[in-house]
Amino acid sequence: MLDKVDIRWIEETDSTQDEVRRHLSDYDNMSVVAARLQTAGRGQRGNKWHARGGENLTFSMLLRFVGNGFPPLDVSGNFRITKAATLAVVEYLGKKGIGSLIKWPNDIYVRNKKICGMLVENTLEGGTITSSIVGIGLNVNQKDFPPQLVNPTSMAALTGESYDLHSELEILSRCLASSFRRLLGGGDISAADQEYESLLYRKGSFHEYSVGQEGTRVEGKIIGVTPDGLLILENRKGELYQFAFKEISYII
Ligand code: BTN
Repeated sequence: MLDKVDIRWIEETDSTQDEVRRHLSDYDNMSVVAARLQTAGRGQRGNKWHARGGENLTFSMLLRFVGNGFPPLDVSGNFRITKAATLAVVEYLGKKGIGSLIKWPNDIYVRNKKICGMLVENTLEGGTITSSIVGIGLNVNQKDFPPQLVNPTSMAALTGESYDLHSELEILSRCLASSFRRLLGGGDISAADQEYESLLYRKGSFHEYSVGQEGTRVEGKIIGVTPDGLLILENRKGELYQFAFKEISYII
């Protein structure tokens, strides 16, 4: 099925996440708000999201789980949202001839460089998610980046091509909509679980990680992710450890 998505472009806003939240009742399930320029784009771990205006995709998609939206989603299933979004971006980049992997939980990497980041913000009632705002920052035409960004890349930097942001957003939004239907629609998601694991950046080989508030260096091998989204790492002795997002960072 072709998922035509309702996309609203705005010239400038602080953050598309906040723009959607401020006008939540105006938007249907899977509507998209995209900004040419964000003046206060937000990233994970309280970081800012840097993206030069007019050169990249910075947008948020609203997911509704009540009314005309998806079936109710228990908060314990919230990692499905991340899974669906990451799989969709990898699929989209594949259509553009760019092979990418998922750096757990939700960065998209091409080799050792980040091309896309996501921020998933859920609204809960009791233990149920009522809505989710999925914010995506995809580096598209920008070729030079501020020095504070550790390892950025973009579609243009990788392919040498220049992309029309409006048409690319239409294609990407369709990938997202069909992935959300697949993972949040109530059907069997075991194949998607396997796809997510098979696309994990650094899966199956030993690398260094920084763990805990002290940043202790450990060596480990990613072997998978738990259903609720914890990273499973194995040490050289074959012992398994699980980490939440804030407990571990990659040394790249
Ligand atoms: C990260 O990797 O740190 C997450 C970046 C998420 C950035 C996107 S851009 C669109 C949306 N609006 C925001 O303020 N943030 C997200």
